[in-house]
Amino acid sequence: MTKQIHLAAHFPGVNNTTVWSDPAAGSHIEFDSFVRFAQTAERGKFDFMFLAEGLRLREQNGLIYDLDVVGRPDTFTVLAALAAVTGHLGLTGTINSTFNEPYEVARQFATLDHLSGGRAAWNVVTSWDAFTGENFRRGGYLAQGDRYERARTFLRTATELWDSWHGDEIIADKQDGRFLAAPAPGAFTHKDAFFDIAGQFNVPRSPQGRPVVFQAGDSDQGRDFAASSADAIFSRHSTLAAGQAFYADVKGRLAKYGRTRDQLLILPAATFVLADTDAEAAQVARQVRRAQVSPQTALRLIEQLWNTELPGFDVDGPLPEFDPVVSDNLISKGRASVRQFAKDPVGLASEWRARAAEGKLSAREVVIEVTGRQSFVGSPETVARIINEFVQADAADGYILVPHITPDGLAPFVDNVVPLLQERGVFRADYTGSTLRDHLGLAPLGRPDETGRQGRHVAASAVS
Ligand SMILES: Cc1cc2nc3c(=O)[nH]c(=O)nc-3n(C[C@H](O)[C@H](O)[C@H](O)COP(=O)(O)O)c2cc1C
Repeated sequence: MTKQIHLAAHFPGVNNTTVWSDPAAGSHIEFDSFVRFAQTAERGKFDFMFLAEGLRLREQNGLIYDLDVVGRPDTFTVLAALAAVTGHLGLTGTINSTFNEPYEVARQFATLDHLSGGRAAWNVVTSWDAFTGENFRRGGYLAQGDRYERARTFLRTATELWDSWHGDEIIADKQDGRFLAAPAPGAFTHKDAFFDIAGQFNVPRSPQGRPVVFQAGDSDQGRDFAASSADAIFSRHSTLAAGQAFYADVKGRLAKYGRTRDQLLILPAATFVLADTDAEAAQVARQVRRAQVSPQTALRLIEQLWNTELPGFDVDGPLPEFDPVVSDNLISKGRASVRQFAKDPVGLASEWRARAAEGKLSAREVVIEVTGRQSFVGSPETVARIINEFVQADAADGYILVPHITPDGLAPFVDNVVPLLQERGVFRADYTGSTLRDHLGLAPLGRPDETGRQGRHVAASAVS
């Protein structure tokens, strides 16, 4: 059976995919940018818009890392404001389960779901570094295993709060003056190793019952967490082979949690470069890569892998001949690439040198190659065909597109590729439902029964 493609738009992030130096690039802070971006996605009938999150400014060599854009407004505030200027688009926010509290987050998402008429989604992330923790009272480091344990129980607790209202408690009978039909809606008690809370949840049941749940970790634990508890995964595996391997792996884990393959969507992040012809697009893609990896960015990324400052280093010459400095003390803090680099810096450096020797590449050219981030490059026809092929070949259920220009970089895709996917009958011509669950083809949640268990998130029964 031909699969329908899901499409979403990632607001350009705090990383070097975003070419903020491009003359066409606008603010990543001003509300107008968010509005233009969201309304373009909605014009393209996209399932949802996605906001990533970082809770601390990144640093390198003890200074704020300002080669990526710096600054990130609060997710809930932005999404709530966007709910008012969009009508169908899902609103997905990345919110950390390591540094927040379930009552607060459950309340914020239930509110967003109300304000948007059932369009809220939560991308549950754990983060991995102690550096971020320093911003919070909870402080320092929680081991990765404990972070996923906390994420699981955090989500379970939030789900108990959402399910503490069944949807029929408010009657607001103006004749006889009764507001509530039930005596104690929202009552909850939860006690485990991480949370010991009791009270009454104060946001009545929201249109979707709870937000759609996303997960974004890639480890074994992350994948199991998604298989047990998420409705969708945001992954980084956008190539055909890596996508298929990830898809098979994660969908294969669902059965052990009593779930079916249609209950979890796999949505990799994907970048794109479009032009009239494939040859032109390839040419533009090369220019974009050079803008994404400026000489300064190339130097900083090499310093990150070598874990040392390289004053006076010429990025147009060869890579350093010495091996990276292996240490728990990293010169770069908070950037996701650092974690990738730190796994095996010496091995990675020799891979980079081999690439350089093979292609006769300068240090910067190697960085441009190895950090390549262009998933779909070509004419609109080519890109539409490839995306459809990848989805039909189970490399994904759709893609979360990450344009490199804020906020108007999405428009060429919406104007030129979406109509071709619609012509092929693999992408909606218009919205047919009103909630994000509708757009994603996820079955509506049942109402929780009297004991509050029926509509509860699958994690409650599958993981406990
Ligand atoms: C594709 C992807 C996107 C992510 N986006 C964010 C993000 O926006 N904010 C954040 O704090 N962490 C983000 N993370 C980090 C994860 O939540 C998680 O903390 C980290 O990947 C470590 O877990 P893992 O070892 O299971 O991958 C992301 C991870 C992946 C794989």
